[in-house]
Amino acid sequence: MRIGIIYNPKPKTDNKEIYEKYCEFDTEDTIDAIGKIVRKRGFGYEKIKFGKEALNRLTSGDIDFVFNIAEGIYGRSRESQIPTICEMFRIPYLFSDPITLGITLDKPLAKKIVSYDGILTPEYHVIDSAIKIPKDVSFPQFVKPSMEGSSKGIHYDSIINDREVLREVVKKMLSKYKQPVLMEKYLSGREFTVGIIGNREPQIFGILEISYKKGIKNIYSIENKSDYIKRVSYSLFDEMKGNVLYNKISQISLNAYKSLQCRDAARVDIRCDEEEVPYFLEINPLPGLNPVYSDFPIMARFKGVEYDDFIGSILSQGFKRYGL
Ligand SMILES: Nc1ncnc2c1ncn2[C@@H]1O[C@H](COP(=O)(O)OP(=O)(O)O)[C@@H](O)[C@H]1O
Ligand SMILES: [Mg+2]
Repeated sequence: MRIGIIYNPKPKTDNKEIYEKYCEFDTEDTIDAIGKIVRKRGFGYEKIKFGKEALNRLTSGDIDFVFNIAEGIYGRSRESQIPTICEMFRIPYLFSDPITLGITLDKPLAKKIVSYDGILTPEYHVIDSAIKIPKDVSFPQFVKPSMEGSSKGIHYDSIINDREVLREVVKKMLSKYKQPVLMEKYLSGREFTVGIIGNREPQIFGILEISYKKGIKNIYSIENKSDYIKRVSYSLFDEMKGNVLYNKISQISLNAYKSLQCRDAARVDIRCDEEEVPYFLEINPLPGLNPVYSDFPIMARFKGVEYDDFIGSILSQGFKRYGL
Protein backbone atom coordinates (compact mmCIF):
# COMPACT_ATOMS: atom_id res chain seq x y z
CA MET A 1 0.00 0.00 0.00
CA ARG A 2 1.25 3.48 -0.91
CA ILE A 3 0.24 6.27 1.46
CA GLY A 4 0.24 9.90 0.38
CA ILE A 5 0.64 12.44 3.18
CA ILE A 6 -1.01 15.58 1.87
CA TYR A 7 -0.16 18.87 3.58
CA ASN A 8 0.41 22.59 3.21
CA PRO A 9 4.09 23.33 3.87
CA LYS A 10 4.83 26.05 6.41
CA PRO A 11 7.43 28.57 5.25
CA LYS A 12 10.27 29.32 7.67
CA THR A 13 10.18 32.95 8.76
CA ASP A 14 11.02 35.40 11.52
CA ASN A 15 8.43 37.85 10.28
CA LYS A 16 5.41 37.96 12.63
CA GLU A 17 2.87 38.75 9.89
CA ILE A 18 4.08 35.94 7.61
CA TYR A 19 4.23 33.57 10.59
CA GLU A 20 0.60 34.32 11.41
CA LYS A 21 -0.50 34.04 7.79
CA TYR A 22 0.80 30.47 7.55
CA CYS A 23 0.44 29.37 11.17
CA GLU A 24 -2.05 26.62 10.36
CA PHE A 25 0.33 24.92 7.93
CA ASP A 26 2.70 22.06 8.74
CA THR A 27 6.47 21.91 9.01
CA GLU A 28 8.52 19.32 7.13
CA ASP A 29 9.45 17.94 10.59
CA THR A 30 5.83 17.00 11.23
CA ILE A 31 5.44 15.29 7.87
CA ASP A 32 8.77 13.44 8.23
CA ALA A 33 7.79 12.23 11.71
CA ILE A 34 4.48 10.86 10.37
CA GLY A 35 6.26 9.40 7.32
CA LYS A 36 8.69 7.49 9.52
CA ILE A 37 5.81 5.83 11.35
CA VAL A 38 4.06 4.95 8.11
CA ARG A 39 7.25 3.38 6.77
CA LYS A 40 7.88 1.49 10.01
CA ARG A 41 4.48 -0.11 9.57
CA GLY A 42 5.60 -1.44 6.20
CA PHE A 43 3.93 1.04 3.84
CA GLY A 44 5.45 3.17 1.14
CA TYR A 45 4.84 6.86 1.58
CA GLU A 46 5.04 10.06 -0.32
CA LYS A 47 4.94 13.67 0.85
CA ILE A 48 2.47 15.50 -1.35
CA LYS A 49 1.91 19.25 -1.34
CA PHE A 50 -1.60 20.72 -1.43
CA GLY A 51 -2.53 22.20 -4.83
CA LYS A 52 -1.63 21.02 -8.31
CA GLU A 53 0.84 18.44 -6.98
CA ALA A 54 -1.94 16.84 -4.90
CA LEU A 55 -4.33 16.92 -7.86
CA ASN A 56 -1.77 15.23 -10.11
CA ARG A 57 -0.89 12.56 -7.59
CA LEU A 58 -4.52 11.82 -6.67
CA THR A 59 -5.48 11.41 -10.31
CA SER A 60 -2.45 9.21 -11.08
CA GLY A 61 -4.09 6.11 -9.62
CA ASP A 62 -1.10 5.02 -7.56
CA ILE A 63 -1.99 6.47 -4.15
CA ASP A 64 -3.90 3.88 -2.11
CA PHE A 65 -4.59 5.85 1.07
CA VAL A 66 -4.32 9.51 1.98
CA PHE A 67 -3.06 10.73 5.33
CA ASN A 68 -4.80 14.07 5.01
CA ILE A 69 -3.62 17.01 7.07
CA ALA A 70 -4.00 19.65 4.37
CA GLU A 71 -5.48 22.89 5.67
CA GLY A 72 -6.10 24.34 2.22
CA ILE A 73 -5.59 27.92 1.17
CA TYR A 74 -8.71 29.68 0.00
CA GLY A 75 -12.28 29.84 1.27
CA ARG A 76 -14.14 28.37 4.20
CA SER A 77 -14.28 24.96 2.48
CA ARG A 78 -10.51 24.88 2.11
CA GLU A 79 -10.06 21.95 4.51
CA SER A 80 -12.66 19.97 2.59
CA GLN A 81 -10.94 20.18 -0.77
CA ILE A 82 -8.53 17.22 -0.50
CA PRO A 83 -11.17 14.89 1.02
CA THR A 84 -13.58 15.92 -1.76
CA ILE A 85 -11.07 14.90 -4.44
CA CYS A 86 -10.39 11.66 -2.56
CA GLU A 87 -14.11 10.90 -2.55
CA MET A 88 -14.38 11.77 -6.25
CA PHE A 89 -11.77 9.11 -7.05
CA ARG A 90 -12.76 6.79 -4.19
CA ILE A 91 -9.40 6.98 -2.50
CA PRO A 92 -9.65 6.18 1.23
CA TYR A 93 -8.38 8.94 3.50
CA LEU A 94 -7.75 9.64 7.16
CA PHE A 95 -9.89 11.98 9.29
CA SER A 96 -13.25 13.62 8.78
CA ASP A 97 -15.19 14.04 5.56
CA PRO A 98 -15.73 17.29 3.61
CA ILE A 99 -18.99 18.24 5.34
CA THR A 100 -17.52 17.96 8.84
CA LEU A 101 -14.32 19.78 7.85
CA GLY A 102 -16.32 22.59 6.25
CA ILE A 103 -18.69 23.08 9.14
CA THR A 104 -16.07 22.89 11.87
CA LEU A 105 -13.82 25.46 10.20
CA ASP A 106 -16.77 27.85 10.31
CA LYS A 107 -16.96 28.28 14.10
CA PRO A 108 -20.42 29.91 14.20
CA LEU A 109 -21.91 27.10 12.08
CA ALA A 110 -20.35 24.48 14.35
CA LYS A 111 -21.71 26.33 17.41
CA LYS A 112 -25.20 26.35 15.89
CA ILE A 113 -25.13 22.61 15.38
CA VAL A 114 -23.73 21.68 18.77
CA SER A 115 -26.14 23.97 20.59
CA TYR A 116 -29.03 22.35 18.72
CA ASP A 117 -27.77 19.12 20.29
CA GLY A 118 -27.84 20.67 23.75
CA ILE A 119 -24.10 21.32 24.10
CA LEU A 120 -23.18 24.47 25.99
CA THR A 121 -21.22 27.04 23.93
CA PRO A 122 -20.66 30.72 24.76
CA GLU A 123 -23.34 33.20 23.65
CA TYR A 124 -22.26 34.83 20.42
CA HIS A 125 -22.84 37.23 17.56
CA VAL A 126 -21.39 37.07 14.06
CA ILE A 127 -20.52 40.56 12.83
CA ASP A 128 -19.79 41.55 9.24
CA SER A 129 -19.79 45.30 9.83
CA ALA A 130 -18.86 47.30 12.93
CA ILE A 131 -22.14 49.23 12.75
CA LYS A 132 -24.01 45.97 13.28
CA ILE A 133 -22.59 45.35 16.77
CA PRO A 134 -25.70 44.90 18.92
CA LYS A 135 -26.42 47.67 21.43
CA ASP A 136 -26.96 45.36 24.36
CA VAL A 137 -23.74 43.25 24.39
CA SER A 138 -22.35 42.67 27.84
CA PHE A 139 -18.64 43.00 28.59
CA PRO A 140 -16.06 41.50 28.54
CA GLN A 141 -16.40 40.13 25.02
CA PHE A 142 -13.94 37.86 23.20
CA VAL A 143 -13.43 38.47 19.47
CA LYS A 144 -11.86 36.22 16.88
CA PRO A 145 -12.00 35.56 13.13
CA SER A 146 -14.88 33.16 12.50
CA MET A 147 -13.07 30.79 10.14
CA GLU A 148 -9.48 30.36 11.20
CA GLY A 149 -7.47 28.06 13.42
CA SER A 150 -4.13 27.75 15.25
CA SER A 151 -4.97 30.97 17.15
CA LYS A 152 -4.71 33.02 13.97
CA GLY A 153 -6.13 36.44 14.80
CA ILE A 154 -6.15 35.74 18.53
CA HIS A 155 -4.07 38.26 20.44
CA TYR A 156 -4.28 39.97 23.81
CA ASP A 157 -6.63 42.56 22.32
CA SER A 158 -9.21 39.78 21.72
CA ILE A 159 -10.52 40.40 25.25
CA ILE A 160 -12.55 43.58 25.16
CA ASN A 161 -14.02 45.63 27.95
CA ASP A 162 -15.71 48.55 26.29
CA ARG A 163 -17.79 49.42 23.30
CA GLU A 164 -15.45 51.92 21.65
CA VAL A 165 -12.52 49.49 21.71
CA LEU A 166 -14.83 46.72 20.49
CA ARG A 167 -15.78 48.81 17.44
CA GLU A 168 -12.12 49.50 16.64
CA VAL A 169 -10.96 45.88 17.05
CA VAL A 170 -13.89 44.54 15.02
CA LYS A 171 -13.12 47.01 12.20
CA LYS A 172 -9.44 46.04 12.23
CA MET A 173 -10.26 42.32 12.21
CA LEU A 174 -12.79 42.62 9.40
CA SER A 175 -10.29 44.37 7.18
CA LYS A 176 -7.33 42.15 8.10
CA TYR A 177 -8.93 38.69 7.99
CA LYS A 178 -11.61 39.43 5.36
CA GLN A 179 -14.31 37.37 7.04
CA PRO A 180 -16.99 37.93 9.70
CA VAL A 181 -15.86 38.39 13.29
CA LEU A 182 -17.13 36.01 15.94
CA MET A 183 -17.90 37.85 19.18
CA GLU A 184 -18.37 35.63 22.21
CA LYS A 185 -19.02 36.06 25.87
CA TYR A 186 -15.55 36.03 27.45
CA LEU A 187 -14.96 32.98 29.64
CA SER A 188 -12.34 33.67 32.26
CA GLY A 189 -12.04 30.22 33.83
CA ARG A 190 -9.92 27.09 33.38
CA GLU A 191 -9.06 25.92 29.89
CA PHE A 192 -8.80 22.38 28.53
CA THR A 193 -8.20 20.62 25.28
CA VAL A 194 -9.62 17.15 24.82
CA GLY A 195 -8.26 14.42 22.55
CA ILE A 196 -10.78 11.96 21.13
CA ILE A 197 -10.02 8.89 19.02
CA GLY A 198 -12.45 6.47 17.42
CA ASN A 199 -15.44 5.96 15.20
CA ARG A 200 -18.33 3.77 16.33
CA GLU A 201 -17.48 4.27 19.97
CA PRO A 202 -15.16 7.26 20.17
CA GLN A 203 -13.15 7.43 23.39
CA ILE A 204 -11.56 10.21 25.36
CA PHE A 205 -7.83 9.81 24.82
CA GLY A 206 -6.94 12.52 27.28
CA ILE A 207 -7.74 15.92 28.70
CA LEU A 208 -4.95 18.46 28.85
CA GLU A 209 -5.32 21.50 31.05
CA ILE A 210 -3.74 24.62 29.60
CA SER A 211 -2.65 27.25 32.10
CA TYR A 212 -0.37 30.22 31.91
CA LYS A 213 2.83 31.13 33.69
CA LYS A 214 3.01 34.04 36.11
CA GLY A 215 2.34 37.40 34.47
CA ILE A 216 1.01 35.85 31.25
CA LYS A 217 -2.56 36.68 30.21
CA ASN A 218 -4.71 33.55 30.13
CA ILE A 219 -5.48 33.20 26.45
CA TYR A 220 -4.03 30.67 24.07
CA SER A 221 -3.08 33.50 21.73
CA ILE A 222 -0.74 33.02 18.80
CA GLU A 223 2.02 34.74 20.83
CA ASN A 224 1.54 32.48 23.87
CA LYS A 225 1.27 29.34 21.72
CA SER A 226 4.42 30.04 19.71
CA ASP A 227 6.42 30.80 22.88
CA TYR A 228 4.77 28.01 24.88
CA ILE A 229 7.88 26.89 26.76
CA LYS A 230 8.20 30.26 28.47
CA ARG A 231 4.52 31.15 28.75
CA VAL A 232 2.28 28.07 28.96
CA SER A 233 1.98 25.17 31.42
CA TYR A 234 0.33 21.90 30.46
CA SER A 235 -0.93 19.22 32.78
CA LEU A 236 -2.92 16.07 32.31
CA PHE A 237 -6.40 16.16 33.78
CA ASP A 238 -6.83 12.37 33.60
CA GLU A 239 -5.73 11.82 37.19
CA MET A 240 -8.93 13.42 38.34
CA LYS A 241 -11.11 10.79 36.66
CA GLY A 242 -14.43 10.50 38.38
CA ASN A 243 -14.30 14.16 39.27
CA VAL A 244 -17.47 16.07 38.30
CA LEU A 245 -15.64 18.54 36.05
CA TYR A 246 -13.78 15.70 34.29
CA ASN A 247 -17.08 14.00 33.54
CA LYS A 248 -18.72 17.19 32.29
CA ILE A 249 -15.80 18.01 29.99
CA SER A 250 -15.71 14.44 28.63
CA GLN A 251 -19.43 14.47 27.98
CA ILE A 252 -19.43 17.82 26.15
CA SER A 253 -16.45 16.77 24.07
CA LEU A 254 -17.79 13.35 23.09
CA ASN A 255 -21.19 14.87 22.32
CA ALA A 256 -19.59 17.54 20.12
CA TYR A 257 -17.51 14.90 18.30
CA LYS A 258 -20.65 12.90 17.59
CA SER A 259 -22.82 15.93 16.86
CA LEU A 260 -20.37 17.11 14.18
CA GLN A 261 -19.79 13.55 12.96
CA CYS A 262 -16.02 13.56 13.30
CA ARG A 263 -14.01 10.55 12.19
CA ASP A 264 -10.86 8.82 13.41
CA ALA A 265 -9.71 11.57 15.81
CA ALA A 266 -10.24 15.21 16.73
CA ARG A 267 -9.41 17.67 19.51
CA VAL A 268 -12.04 19.72 21.31
CA ASP A 269 -11.26 23.07 22.96
CA ILE A 270 -13.15 23.77 26.17
CA ARG A 271 -13.15 26.75 28.47
CA CYS A 272 -14.92 27.28 31.79
CA ASP A 273 -16.61 30.36 33.14
CA GLU A 274 -15.76 31.72 36.58
CA GLU A 275 -18.14 29.19 38.17
CA GLU A 276 -16.26 26.30 36.53
CA VAL A 277 -19.03 25.51 34.07
CA PRO A 278 -17.35 24.12 30.92
CA TYR A 279 -18.29 25.37 27.44
CA PHE A 280 -17.49 24.13 23.93
CA LEU A 281 -15.28 26.61 22.05
CA GLU A 282 -14.44 24.66 18.91
CA ILE A 283 -13.44 21.27 17.53
CA ASN A 284 -10.36 20.51 15.45
CA PRO A 285 -10.92 17.52 13.17
CA LEU A 286 -7.43 18.07 11.67
CA PRO A 287 -5.54 18.46 14.97
CA GLY A 288 -1.92 19.60 14.96
CA LEU A 289 0.38 16.56 14.93
CA ASN A 290 3.85 17.96 15.44
CA PRO A 291 5.59 15.48 17.77
CA VAL A 292 7.08 18.23 19.94
CA TYR A 293 4.73 21.17 20.27
CA SER A 294 1.21 20.23 19.13
CA ASP A 295 -1.38 19.81 21.90
CA PHE A 296 -2.55 16.29 21.02
CA PRO A 297 1.00 14.82 20.89
CA ILE A 298 1.86 16.72 24.12
CA MET A 299 -1.15 14.99 25.69
CA ALA A 300 0.13 11.60 24.42
CA ARG A 301 3.57 12.31 25.88
CA PHE A 302 2.06 13.20 29.25
CA LYS A 303 0.12 9.95 29.17
CA GLY A 304 3.30 8.01 28.43
CA VAL A 305 2.09 7.03 24.94
CA GLU A 306 4.89 7.08 22.35
CA TYR A 307 4.29 9.33 19.33
CA ASP A 308 4.63 6.23 17.17
CA ASP A 309 1.77 4.43 18.95
CA PHE A 310 -0.31 7.59 19.08
CA ILE A 311 -0.16 8.19 15.30
CA GLY A 312 -0.46 4.43 14.74
CA SER A 313 -3.70 4.24 16.69
CA ILE A 314 -5.29 7.08 14.69
CA LEU A 315 -4.12 5.53 11.43
CA SER A 316 -5.59 2.18 12.36
CA GLN A 317 -8.96 3.86 13.02
CA GLY A 318 -8.89 5.10 9.43
CA PHE A 319 -7.89 1.68 8.05
CA LYS A 320 -10.57 -0.06 10.08
CA ARG A 321 -13.25 2.31 8.80
CA TYR A 322 -12.47 1.19 5.23
CA GLY A 323 -11.95 -2.44 6.18
CA LEU A 324 -8.26 -2.23 5.24
N1 LIG B 1 -15.09 32.96 24.42
C1 LIG B 1 -13.84 32.87 24.84
N2 LIG B 1 -13.53 33.23 26.13
C2 LIG B 1 -12.26 33.15 26.58
N3 LIG B 1 -11.23 32.72 25.84
C3 LIG B 1 -11.47 32.34 24.57
C4 LIG B 1 -12.78 32.38 24.00
N4 LIG B 1 -12.70 31.94 22.73
C5 LIG B 1 -11.39 31.65 22.51
N5 LIG B 1 -10.65 31.88 23.61
C6 LIG B 1 -9.19 31.72 23.76
O1 LIG B 1 -8.59 31.76 22.49
C7 LIG B 1 -7.99 30.49 22.17
C8 LIG B 1 -8.20 30.15 20.71
O2 LIG B 1 -9.58 30.13 20.42
P1 LIG B 1 -10.24 28.99 19.56
O3 LIG B 1 -11.70 29.30 19.46
O4 LIG B 1 -9.87 27.67 20.10
O5 LIG B 1 -9.60 29.25 18.12
P2 LIG B 1 -8.43 28.51 17.28
O6 LIG B 1 -9.16 27.81 16.19
O7 LIG B 1 -7.57 29.59 16.74
O8 LIG B 1 -7.71 27.58 18.21
C9 LIG B 1 -8.66 29.51 23.11
O9 LIG B 1 -7.85 28.39 23.31
C10 LIG B 1 -8.86 30.38 24.36
O10 LIG B 1 -7.66 30.52 25.10
MG1 LIG C 1 -8.53 26.21 19.44
